[in-house]
Amino acid sequence: MKYSAIALSLLLAGTSQAKQYGFLKDNGDGSWIIGNDVWNMTQEQIYGSKLYYKDQELVGEATGHYVSYNGAASNLAWTSAKIVKTGSNYVDVQFDAAEGEMHWVIFNGLAGAYQYFVNRALPVLGEFRTLWRLDNETFTSAYNADKDGVLPPLSEYAISTKIQDETWKTPEGDYLTKYDWSGFVREQEYWGVYGEKFGSWYLHPGKDYFNGDHLKQELMNHRESATGDAVQLNMIHGTHFQALSNDVLPNGKIWGPWLWYLNDGSKTDVARRYNNEINSWPYKWLDDAAYKSRVASVTGKLLLSDGRPAAGAAVFLGDNHPNKTTLDMGSDYYYTTYAGNDGSFRFIDVRIGVYALQAWSNGGSIGDVTTTYLKNDVDVSDSPTSKTRLEKLTWSVLKSDTIFQVGGFDRKSTGFAFSGGFGAGRVANCPANLTYTVGSSQESDWCFAQNAIGTYRIAFPLSASNITNDALLTVSLAGYSQGTTVNIFANEVRIGNLSSSGILSDPSLYRSGTVAGEWHQFEFPIKGSTFKTNNKIDFRVMSLSSSLWRGPIYDAVKLEWI
Ligand SMILES: *[C@@H]1O[C@H](CO)[C@@H](O)[C@H](O)[C@H]1NC(C)=O
Ligand SMILES: *[C@@H]1O[C@H](CO)[C@@H](O)[C@H](O)[C@H]1NC(C)=O
Ligand SMILES: *[C@@H]1O[C@H](CO)[C@@H](O)[C@H](O)[C@H]1NC(C)=O
Ligand SMILES: *[C@@H]1O[C@H](CO)[C@@H](O)[C@H](O)[C@H]1NC(C)=O
Ligand SMILES: *[C@@H]1O[C@H](CO)[C@@H](O)[C@H](O)[C@H]1NC(C)=O
Ligand SMILES: *[C@@H]1O[C@H](CO)[C@@H](O)[C@H](O)[C@H]1NC(C)=O
Repeated sequence: MKYSAIALSLLLAGTSQAKQYGFLKDNGDGSWIIGNDVWNMTQEQIYGSKLYYKDQELVGEATGHYVSYNGAASNLAWTSAKIVKTGSNYVDVQFDAAEGEMHWVIFNGLAGAYQYFVNRALPVLGEFRTLWRLDNETFTSAYNADKDGVLPPLSEYAISTKIQDETWKTPEGDYLTKYDWSGFVREQEYWGVYGEKFGSWYLHPGKDYFNGDHLKQELMNHRESATGDAVQLNMIHGTHFQALSNDVLPNGKIWGPWLWYLNDGSKTDVARRYNNEINSWPYKWLDDAAYKSRVASVTGKLLLSDGRPAAGAAVFLGDNHPNKTTLDMGSDYYYTTYAGNDGSFRFIDVRIGVYALQAWSNGGSIGDVTTTYLKNDVDVSDSPTSKTRLEKLTWSVLKSDTIFQVGGFDRKSTGFAFSGGFGAGRVANCPANLTYTVGSSQESDWCFAQNAIGTYRIAFPLSASNITNDALLTVSLAGYSQGTTVNIFANEVRIGNLSSSGILSDPSLYRSGTVAGEWHQFEFPIKGSTFKTNNKIDFRVMSLSSSLWRGPIYDAVKLEWI
């Protein structure tokens, strides 16, 4: 009895499986239909539309699916399509463009598809993305780990005044901008757009193909201000919050596979799905020798030369013998993690290769450390255990004789007033003048950024016996948007500046960034003859450019004897 029930269910499963098989149908007019019996989509030369799921069409009047690079300047045009692999329960459909191959891996009965892109001839870039522009009545809200809520309606844009770069001021005096819908890429489990009945999501269980480091941020969702479309953006290589990103992309570089997933709009369901994906990454069904050649783990323990463990440090595996910052890297594959309290760290599923290991303070008990650890020629090669263990990693740090420190060195504005998340015009909340008194002020008495005519002052006493010693002021910026020059004075003697003459511009501060952009660190020596028993270091803005919200995002300031 039991046996035949199983046999019957197997038989039924077999039948429905055959019916649900993924397919590619050539319409013979330069368009194709792909899908399975749960969903399907018509792919034309550039745009994918007519997305059917549960008998509803989900693109509507919107633009649909496409792939493009360099700020939408170039959309990829598909010239042919074929099934390149048929597995026991999926098909891998490949669309070809001059720049490379877009794959849709369609499993039986799966609502959505795994997607990956194989580079063939993309130019040096910049921005490269896939996206869905979907029906705005079905998809009314958007979610990422940094922001969840209803997308502002197009009607609100219509009654607002455009003030700059995709940013509007509403009649109530609030700001409306797509950049509020950004997030830290490596902290996302999933993001997408949803409504009462449907959700469309991106799940990236692997993140090694993204450019940049731990602090890589990207725009993720938004209302398209020209058309009203609900946009679910997949910036697989991007520059929205960076000063520089010009990467030569090797032939054969693979972005993905990630999962594009449709459901009923439930975040609980997509979170569960993400956990499944994490457990199956890297996907065994993808036949690519380099993709498959990975070690299960790269581990090590990092100690400071003063004996402290590198507790909580940001640890990064990237370009060997680097000539770019970790945020600006993007040609190959990048791994990020944080050390534990004892300085030990672990990267998983690392592609075979030779890397440089880098580490920097992420605040906490090593928040005084201003240097970056670098170890070149880290050989991650296949071993019998598929594990790479790095021995004896020592990060040399100089003993510093600190007079004061404002904020922890972590390449972020964390701890300062108004820091956190994304919010247009947040810097307007910072005061024109503030005084941080060493010994009595709190971190939150300093503001995360500076963009008003006035002075941020650090006041501190020195003992009479010390006032002839020379000192060094280290200023770490979490980001900088050109347009505001900050002159730095020690007891009214100008010791330096933060200005466009020395710092590349990143858009973070004027694009809703409050935590980080491009990191920069400067050292300004101060002569002992400058000091008195009561001292002040001033960060003074004397004029502003006409552009809104430009200037520094502060990370930390430290003064030490030398
Ligand atoms: C696509 O889905 C729609 C709605 O379910 C259905 O009517 C249509 O036949 C499907 N197209 C193909 C080629 O399966
Ligand atoms: C949806 O898009 C249409 C244009 O296709 C636009 O008229 C409408 O205002 C948009 N809806 C919302 C909520 O923004
Ligand atoms: C930077 O490094 C990359 C990769 O190692 C190398 O191909 C490139 O030539 C270097 N560029 C410069 C200017 O040194
Ligand atoms: C900032 O301080 C300067 C110097 O004391 C003063 O002239 C200026 O009015 C202050 N600005 C504001 C907005 O309070
Ligand atoms: C005076 O300076 C010396 C180093 O030159 C330092 O060790 C000492 O802590 C300083 N004393 C005070 C009170 O700042
Ligand atoms: C800032 O300082 C640099 C280095 O001393 C100098 O070359 C530059 O002219 C200064 N810029 C401004 C705007 O003061």
